[in-house]
Amino acid sequence: MTLDVAVVVSGGGSNLQSIIDAVEAGRLDVGIRLVLSNKPDAHGLERARRHGIDTWAEPHEAYATRLDFDMALADAIEASGARLVVLAGYMRMVTPEFLARFPGRVVNIHPALLPSFPGVHGQTDAALHGVKIAGCTVHFVDEIMDNGPIIIQAAVPALPGEDGVTLAQRILELEHRIYPQALQWLAQGRVSVKGRFVYVNAPAIGETPLPALVTGAYLVNPPLEQGF
Ligand code: GRF
Repeated sequence: MTLDVAVVVSGGGSNLQSIIDAVEAGRLDVGIRLVLSNKPDAHGLERARRHGIDTWAEPHEAYATRLDFDMALADAIEASGARLVVLAGYMRMVTPEFLARFPGRVVNIHPALLPSFPGVHGQTDAALHGVKIAGCTVHFVDEIMDNGPIIIQAAVPALPGEDGVTLAQRILELEHRIYPQALQWLAQGRVSVKGRFVYVNAPAIGETPLPALVTGAYLVNPPLEQGF
């Protein structure tokens, strides 16, 4: 069962590329119906065109209000037949009216371990705070920024004094793995949400089971030394 999606970008589109690559490798059962942007010069649009994917782009500044832009975006997404809206490096808040057009069907990736470090500088905020563990989050989008129920997270070590640039690159490598994974679970219809809690249900009979939650699984940074 293929899940038709629309991907919304504002910049380089590396997350879009990871989704395209997973689809083309046969690892991801989604159909990318349309790639949209509020930035007509976004490199993500070029990535889409290189793979024969339709695009839509309008400068948000050309619209009188945020709502006007969001309604135009929603119209294009609906016309594409997409069932899921995938925000991927999209750097604008969406309006409640936009979300109402796609209830429970908008997801986002954020380069921090939410609820820590929401907003547009998650990696730098974490680095400057001196965290020892940083990471990324795929979540459903609700009316509060970077707040919706969490589908999957990944953690990476942060090094003392490193800046947001090196940390962002380390996080990005994992973004490119957890977003396609989250989308595959959604495409398989295995994701259910109860309040704030997201459950990924067991795979269909005969499929490889999810790895059991390894209670000993942990990430300690700096690493524990002998005897501890
Ligand atoms: C990524 O870290 C993403 O999480 C954030 O913007 C960065 C660039 O994303 N929202 P992309 O390369 O445009 O997908």
